[in-house]
Amino acid sequence: MSATQATILNPLAEAANEAIRKDCPVVFDLLSERGKRFFFPTQGILAQGAEAKQKAKVANATIGIAVERGEPAHLACVDRYFSGLTPGEIYDYAPSYGKPELRQAWARKQRQETPSLGGQLLSNPVVTNALTHGLSVVGELFLDPGDEVLSSDLLWENYNLAWETRLGAHISYFPFFDPDLTGYNLEAFTQALAQRTGRKLVVSLNFPNNPSGYTPTGAEALGIVAALTRAAEAGTRLVVVCDDAYYGMFFDPACEHESLFGRLAQAHPNLLAIKVDGGTKEAFVWGLRVGFVTFGIQNGTEACYKALEDKTAGVIRSVVSSCTQPGQSVLLKVLQDPEFRPQQDEKIAMLRSRAAVTGVECRRPEYADCWDVYPYNSGYFMCLRLKGADADLVRRRLLDEHGVGTIALGPTNLRVAFSCLTEEQVPGVFRAIAAAVRAVRGN
Ligand SMILES: Cc1ncc(COP(=O)(O)O)c(C=O)c1O
Repeated sequence: MSATQATILNPLAEAANEAIRKDCPVVFDLLSERGKRFFFPTQGILAQGAEAKQKAKVANATIGIAVERGEPAHLACVDRYFSGLTPGEIYDYAPSYGKPELRQAWARKQRQETPSLGGQLLSNPVVTNALTHGLSVVGELFLDPGDEVLSSDLLWENYNLAWETRLGAHISYFPFFDPDLTGYNLEAFTQALAQRTGRKLVVSLNFPNNPSGYTPTGAEALGIVAALTRAAEAGTRLVVVCDDAYYGMFFDPACEHESLFGRLAQAHPNLLAIKVDGGTKEAFVWGLRVGFVTFGIQNGTEACYKALEDKTAGVIRSVVSSCTQPGQSVLLKVLQDPEFRPQQDEKIAMLRSRAAVTGVECRRPEYADCWDVYPYNSGYFMCLRLKGADADLVRRRLLDEHGVGTIALGPTNLRVAFSCLTEEQVPGVFRAIAAAVRAVRGN
């Protein structure tokens, strides 16, 4: 059933669809039925309120907040927990699209970090309640029940909850690493794409990867982009989601330091690239909940991007209305702060040292019978492929007998967040894992 058969489309949705269809017809095809229905209510309360903010010089009786002495009214018992932000930066609603200055500042940062974008036109980033929400919104716009998502077999488990359990899509997997665990399995990825030629396909790319901690090398990254471009040339209609949650946490000069979004956003008119990123890990502000969704496609136009931004903001408006004002205000100030980069570099250096110590400890010859180490060069995590012991039994034994917490993923994989371990803790953790593997295995 098409969107038009299911419901009468709001004229604003029709206008957004028309703008997308005219300039980027494939993007229109890629939208889910919900995505086709969505629009931003520009005639609604928010829009009327925004207009009044500009023009209502005598009295503004529009938006549902309380005002006192020209500022959002607030309680002293709340206010005492904040310093350095004005009441407007804390208590007022943010727009459904996000704070305009923050969106601009984030767009500038994305371009600085992604020189391969060149002059490619992109949408403005739309603010989400961090990356989880961004991924959910992308799913709502592009996934109908039964639609297929292609992912590596090593992935963040919340994809299953957001896209399969909630939206009824179906995730298919290809092996992330080659059989010898030397690097990215470009062959399996290319084959998986070839098997789906001509279809609609959502592809998720997450580098640095959770759970493996792997970022493709420069050559592998080019191979991934080339494989996707060839698939698009062969007629596959692609949404490629670049989940850049751990962007910047690179510990090896060989890793590709640019988001693949830069090249994918200009690859082909059959390929819509979507960058999902945010402050969560990059600015070490997990609980602030600020993320972004940004669209790029070779033939993208301002009108098409505006329509996609409107649909995104419409979905946000319908579920959470708008995202955190104080979180956005803080992230904006952080991006403008000359101390941000040096302080971020310090924390990345701390993670790099932990990754290096972990690399030595986990590869000690005396553990060779206990696990293989999946390659890692970035991010927060590394992953072991256990030999002859069930991962969850090992995890439980580690907790009960050694007081060490890890994450079991499937029957063989154990994820270790070295980001949470001091260098001094690392050797003991791997000693404990080896002891637990041997105990579970009985030798
Ligand atoms: C790969 C990946 N994507 C997205 C997220 C979600 O991040 P956020 O906390 O910003 O929602 C995580 C968090 O663990 C993650 O590992």
